[in-house]
Amino acid sequence: MVILVTGGAGFIGSHTCVELLQNGYEVVVVDNHSNSSPGALDEVQKLAGLPLTAYQVDLRDRKALAEVFDAHPIDAVVHFAAKKAVGESIQIPLDYFDINIGGTTSLLRAMHEHGVYQLVFSSSCSIYGDSQKVPMAEEAPAGPTNPYALSKWTCEQLLAETCSRYPQFTVVSLRYFNPMGAHPSGRIGEDPRGVPHNVMPYLTQVAVGRLERLSVFGGDYPTPDGSAIRDYIHVMDVADGHRLAVEHLGEEPGMRVFNLGTGAGVSVLELVEAFSAACGKEIPYQVVDRRPGDVARLIADSSRVEREWGWRTTRNLAAMCDDAWRFQRLNPNGYDG
Ligand code: UD1
Repeated sequence: MVILVTGGAGFIGSHTCVELLQNGYEVVVVDNHSNSSPGALDEVQKLAGLPLTAYQVDLRDRKALAEVFDAHPIDAVVHFAAKKAVGESIQIPLDYFDINIGGTTSLLRAMHEHGVYQLVFSSSCSIYGDSQKVPMAEEAPAGPTNPYALSKWTCEQLLAETCSRYPQFTVVSLRYFNPMGAHPSGRIGEDPRGVPHNVMPYLTQVAVGRLERLSVFGGDYPTPDGSAIRDYIHVMDVADGHRLAVEHLGEEPGMRVFNLGTGAGVSVLELVEAFSAACGKEIPYQVVDRRPGDVARLIADSSRVEREWGWRTTRNLAAMCDDAWRFQRLNPNGYDG
């Protein structure tokens, strides 16, 4: 099978490409490299010992995207390409709508025009918003609290509508909680451009001395230590989930939604402690105001995907911290260093 992976050079995309190549899929990547390096794809191919084909294309460039579909007999699409920083999305919401929603509709149009109807969509737990009830199952009401989350929720609704209007379409939407870690080889990992928005790359860059100290956003949440709680999940478990989704895509028409998380909540302060243990250094931090758009607590109920596909996480918090640290230690300046 030939799989088109949008955003394949990004953090989750690159790990998923390795998993797909190693399981016998042919991989075609489109990525505009707005937040990723082409060097990630070199490492992906070395790790898998297999080649892939890559195009630097923005999904909204309909002509260039059509040429990719013309050039390859694509069977299914795994769609990661999007912007994903909560704080930034509040500053530049229209960019988030244009890139995340516009990119997805452009992709759907290209798929429809080329007779490709199978899609795995990269969704997010952020669509659940500030629910008091944790863990959250897929039926929990949506309540996006920032433009990033709204863009993901809007895409899910557009995908559901597409499936009901065009019965050929089959879509699996994976709502993952907070992916982090890296491939255990340390060859690929999280290497955002500029100052990281997410907590783990921030921590690893403090540990290698690129940044001075972590700001812990919020010390007054209604949680045991006052910092916000998330369900952190190893990127290799997320990559496994995508490979399984591709395997199961053809089983049912229409749209299916699955959470991917561990079911365990970890506070920011607990994460700082776990990461300090992994890297053998005290990580300096200061507690500052809450970040706009953040919520207190997000924890997954992933029992649906376990029941239906037998997926469950196999890597713990210590492995996430060890692996993230190994990648940063071996690549202190990322792929371009
Ligand atoms: C958000 C989304 C998540 C999405 C992810 C993609 C929400 C609620 N969640 O995750 O679905 O997959 O973006 O990027 O919208 N923090 C600090 N200091 C920092 C950075 C973060 O204290 O410098 C804290 C945050 O306040 C948060 C936790 O660390 O409590 C995790 O933050 P982050 O890594 O940015 O991910 P989310 O915002 O939870």
